[in-house]
Parts: sequence; structure tokens; C-alpha cells
Amino acid sequence: MCGIVGYIGKQKASAIILEGLKRLEYRGYDSAGVATQQGDHFDLAKKIGRVEGLIKTTPALKLPGTTGIGHTRWATHGGVTDANAHPHISSDQKFAIIHNGVVENYASIKKFLLTKGYTFKSETDTEVLCNLIAYHYQKEPATKEGSRFLESVRKTLRHIEGTYGIAVMCADNPAEIVAARKGSPLILGVGDGELMLASDVSAIISRTQNVVYLKDGEIVHMTAQNFSITTLDSSDVSPVIDKITWNIEDSEVGAFDHFMEKEIFEQPAALENTMRGRFSEDGSTAQFGGLNITAIDFRQVDRFHFIACGSAWHACLVAEQLIERFARVPVEVDYASEFRYRNIPLSKNALFFTISQSGETIDTLAAMREAKRKGYKVLAISNVVGSSIAREADGGVYQHVGPEIGVASTKAFTSQLLVGAMLALYIGRMRDMSFSGGIEYVKALKGAPDLVRETLKLAPQLKEIAKRYAHYKDMLFLGRLTLFPVALEGALKLKEISYIHAEGYPAAEMKHGPIALISEECPSVFFVPSGEMFNKVVSSMQEIKARKGKIIAIATQNCELPSGLVDELIRIPECHEAVLPIVASIPVQLLSYYMAVELKRDVDKPRNLAKSVTVE
Ligand code: M6R
Repeated sequence: MCGIVGYIGKQKASAIILEGLKRLEYRGYDSAGVATQQGDHFDLAKKIGRVEGLIKTTPALKLPGTTGIGHTRWATHGGVTDANAHPHISSDQKFAIIHNGVVENYASIKKFLLTKGYTFKSETDTEVLCNLIAYHYQKEPATKEGSRFLESVRKTLRHIEGTYGIAVMCADNPAEIVAARKGSPLILGVGDGELMLASDVSAIISRTQNVVYLKDGEIVHMTAQNFSITTLDSSDVSPVIDKITWNIEDSEVGAFDHFMEKEIFEQPAALENTMRGRFSEDGSTAQFGGLNITAIDFRQVDRFHFIACGSAWHACLVAEQLIERFARVPVEVDYASEFRYRNIPLSKNALFFTISQSGETIDTLAAMREAKRKGYKVLAISNVVGSSIAREADGGVYQHVGPEIGVASTKAFTSQLLVGAMLALYIGRMRDMSFSGGIEYVKALKGAPDLVRETLKLAPQLKEIAKRYAHYKDMLFLGRLTLFPVALEGALKLKEISYIHAEGYPAAEMKHGPIALISEECPSVFFVPSGEMFNKVVSSMQEIKARKGKIIAIATQNCELPSGLVDELIRIPECHEAVLPIVASIPVQLLSYYMAVELKRDVDKPRNLAKSVTVE
């Protein structure tokens, strides 16, 4: 995925666009570029590397226009080169474009355009898109005053297979931008005497809180004074202007070194926000305003399907166990990317949930569309209001944790665990969970933010442990039941930001293969809860110890561990089983964060990754 920004107004566009790009950099950071327009002339600056690098090497004078577009890239078609960086200019110099997405039929279009004399400087699908607009523009009769630019973009998009969020400038139409979306997010910011475009609100929040969330298949035509929205088949769209409820501080790193660190420490408040207003007055169950499904219909569901990617998929695995345990309804969990192609038999009364922080992950969106196509209702758990997944769902639950900027998910993940736990309660109370059971469960969930606050106090200890373990090349994360998905999440966090190879496994399964990795050079992180699993987990630890493996134990307060068994002991509070995965996530988040810092990694922008993956 990439980040795109556009501006039309009275100010110098480049400064505003570069500021916006810095805020969107989490979406991709292979290269960055800006083009502004003055009269019929484009000024262009683009290069590989971060936005900061572009700013340093681009004198403000070079980009003087008050209309402009900018882009931060996560490479898909073509390597990371200056030539492949956006914006791209058509070979006749008439159009400048930025693009987020993938044009699947670009090869045949390119072949056609070459026969028509268009030339290409890059390997990108985007330059093909740009030249196709130029081709249609040449063919478009200039009869309807002012609409030739818009119509040539519209015609072009009708030929495009794939996904796009684009913004285009035309040399013949200064102070105009045409933008469109299909499968890649695009938001129009309506400011005071200015209009902006962006892939997400963090890029424009410093200038306006009024936004229009463009829908797939919509095209916006912007001038300095006004905008109009139409569809690919030329129908008019009445825009709905929404107000963003968070402010600029929420998307700034503040006193922290990294967004990931900030977001880890925001978790108590984030969990409070996720729960706010979501318990019944009698305190015995959860309530959700936006599910758009009656209790009677919910009661009929005979199987839940949860679909997601990455950390959100781990959250689904925890929800599965809690719903099966407390509500006694079977749950299936699928990777979104697999679900679409498996064509699994589905029962008549199945209900789907997708979980996606960004609400833009294309695999999750596509899986959701597939379930809907088969006639099933799909509810979405998402953090980003107005995101594609949230909008296309039949209903859902917003997480309300504020913007998550760090590429490694932290506060969104624990909030997803919480929503899953609340759903288990909600569904459980419709079935066999007693009133008193519900009261106890709600009390436990309400206590989660304080338990997380307490657990965050472990930060100095984890920082020290991180220093001792950062030089290892491999690591195992082992847990049982709901702590197995947390082990997967711990391994993912470590891999993502420190580039240390890590694997998550069910603790007892370790002896069926991964134990071969164990030596003094491969430490293991064990989750050790008190209760029925305690002795079993201790046995697994002993098997590791017998093979000279180092052990970092994350154990609840009441666990009495045999002396000499563990090398590092991290104590977390005892808690209800619906809260335990949330609390147990904190130490692994801190451990991976400090290990990555120790290794001087770029924590918020780890190599090769992007915050949400909007290509298949
Ligand atoms: O926005 P989504 O929740 O749909 O994103 C899903 C994954 O791409 C995401 O969780 C990814 O695995 C994170 N980088 C994990 O830290």
C-alpha cells in the first residue's frame, strides 16, 4: 500500500503535502515524491527513501504551485528506484498522477499505448494509467466545457482491472484535481477555502476535521472553490461530510521515542475506550450499538466464522476459544487470504466476523465480499471509522482506540482481544451463562485497564532482559490455550521489528519438531498461567532446560516455579481467563520493542512492511 495526499487552495501546496506525507509514511516508505502545478507546468521532486530525505534535497522554491499531489510508496510493480517513485507524468507532459493500488491489466494496456507512440520512463503500472488518461484526453472531444479532463479519467478507469486510489492533475486545467478510488482508501478533506485528499485522515487532520469518505467507484472533481462527486457511470453522488472525532495530538509521537512505544503505553486508556458504554445497565452482559442484528437472529447462529490477517488473525484465535468456552457455539477461524479460495462448506445459519484494524486490508475485504456474495451477514470489528471493511459490513463494532501509527500492532490488537472477550460474554449470556457468571465476567473486563497499567510497570525489567537477549538469532514463543495465539503474536512482533527469527507454538506441540532448534543459542519465552495447565507447561519447560535452552517465563503471580528452571522471570497479575491474553500480551510487546531498540532498528517503519496491506 502507499500513501497519497493532494491539495488545492491558497497556500503553497508542497509544504502541506510533505507534512501530510510524513504522517502517511507508515503506509509505505520505499520512496516519496511531490508534484505541484503552476499554469500548464508541473514541478516534480521524487526520490527513493524517506520523506525527510526528499525534504532535505528539495528547495521549497522548486515546488511553488498552490495545487499539488504527493505520494509515499510501498513498491509493487517495479523496484525501489527514483524513476519508479510517484508522481508520474504522461509522456506528452499533460498529466501528473499518484496511485495507490495495482493495475492488473497494465501489460496489455502498455503494449497498446506503445503502438500509439506513448513512452515510459518507469516499470510501474501507474505510468501506464497516466498515459492511458493522456490517450483518452486526446480522443475526448473538447465540446463540454471543463469536463474533458474528468471524462478522460472516467473513461480510463472503466478499462482498469485492479485497485486504485488516484489523484490526477492536468496541464490544461490548473487548480483542478480529479481523484477516484476502487479498493484503495481515499478521503476528501473539506477545509476553509481549500480542499485536500488523503489515504487516511492523519494526513489532513491538522487542516480540517470535515471529511468525505469516498466510496469505491466514485470520482471527485476538485477545484479551488468546490468539488463534485460522480460515479464511474456518470451518476451524481450527494456527498456526506463527516466530522473526525480525534485531533492532531493523537497522531503525534509526543514525548515518546516511537509510536509503537506510545501505543503500548496508551493501552489502558484504549481498552477503556473500547469498553465505554458497552455493558448493560445491570452489569451482566455486553451491548453493542452497531451490530444491526437482532438478539433473536443472533440466537439462531449455529457457527461463527472469524476472518482476518496478521495480528487480527491472532485475535480471532483467542475469540474462538472464548466463544466456544463461554457461549458453547462452534467457531471457525480462517486467514482471509485462504478463505476466499478454500470454498468451505458453510452451514445455513452461519455468521461472519472480520477483524481489521485499518479496515482496508484487501485480503480481508475480499474474503468479506465472498461471504456476502454467498448470502451471509458479515460483521466487522475495526478501528478506522469509515474504512472500506467497516462500510461494507452489515454491522460491527468500532474499537475506538485512536489512530495506530506504528506498523507493529499493539493497542489495536489488545482492543481486538477485548472485543472478542465481550462478544463471548454477549453470546454466552444469550445462551447458558448465568446472571452471576455474567456479573463476574463484566467485573473482570472492567478491571483489565488497571491490570494492564500494573503490567506496564514491568517496562524497566523488560528493557534489561532485552539487552541480554537482543543478540540471539532465533527464539521460540510457547503458550497453551488462549496463550498460544499470544505466543504467535509475540513471535510476530519480534520478527516484524527486530528481524530476529521467531516462532510461536503451542507449548506441548514444541516437542514434535521445534525442539530440534533448542540449544544454548535459541531461547524460549514461555507463558505460564496458574491453574490446570501449570504442571503441563512446567513439564515443557523442563524439556527445554534439559537441552540447555534458556527460558524467559511470563508467569502469573501465583505460579510457584521449580528453582533454577527459568533464566528470567516476569511476573504478571493473576486474572480472569478472558483478560489473561490481554495482560500477557504486554510483556511480549515490551520485549520485542526494547530488543528492536537495542538493535537500533527502525521500530515504526520496519523493512519491507506497511501498516495495512491493500494489495493481494
Ligand atoms: O489492518 P489489519 O488489522 O487488517 O492488518 C492486518 C495485518 O496486516 C496486521 O495485523 C499486521 O500483521 C501487523 N503488522 C501486525 O503487527
